[in-house]
Amino acid sequence: MFKKLVSLFGGKPALVTGAGKLEEGQAKVVTFGDVLAGNAIQVMFSRVNGELRAMDAICPHEGVLMNDGPVTDGRIVCPMHLYEFDTQTGREQGAQCKKAKIFKVREIGNDAEVWI
Ligand code: FES
Repeated sequence: MFKKLVSLFGGKPALVTGAGKLEEGQAKVVTFGDVLAGNAIQVMFSRVNGELRAMDAICPHEGVLMNDGPVTDGRIVCPMHLYEFDTQTGREQGAQCKKAKIFKVREIGNDAEVWI
């Protein structure tokens, strides 16, 4: 799946219009690729201490889609088993499962670029 997405974007960042407007403590999931074709990646953008962050929105515990927030103390809670993930490192607070993938992101005005 990852190779399909790399070829989809050719190693270049994907533009996410409006991502720069995300307010402090908010999170929003954006889908890249085609879910029906099985080559989608869902990225959760969040803003913590003014910084835009991007983390894989699929929980590394059992593969559930995490919701759109809120983000509290830099962490987001998975709705399935309530594990808390640090949006900067992807680590689960209790180290009960592996880390969520973190993506490089750069704000450009009201938009953002993300390397997936
Ligand atoms: S599926 Fe996310 S915490 Fe279990």
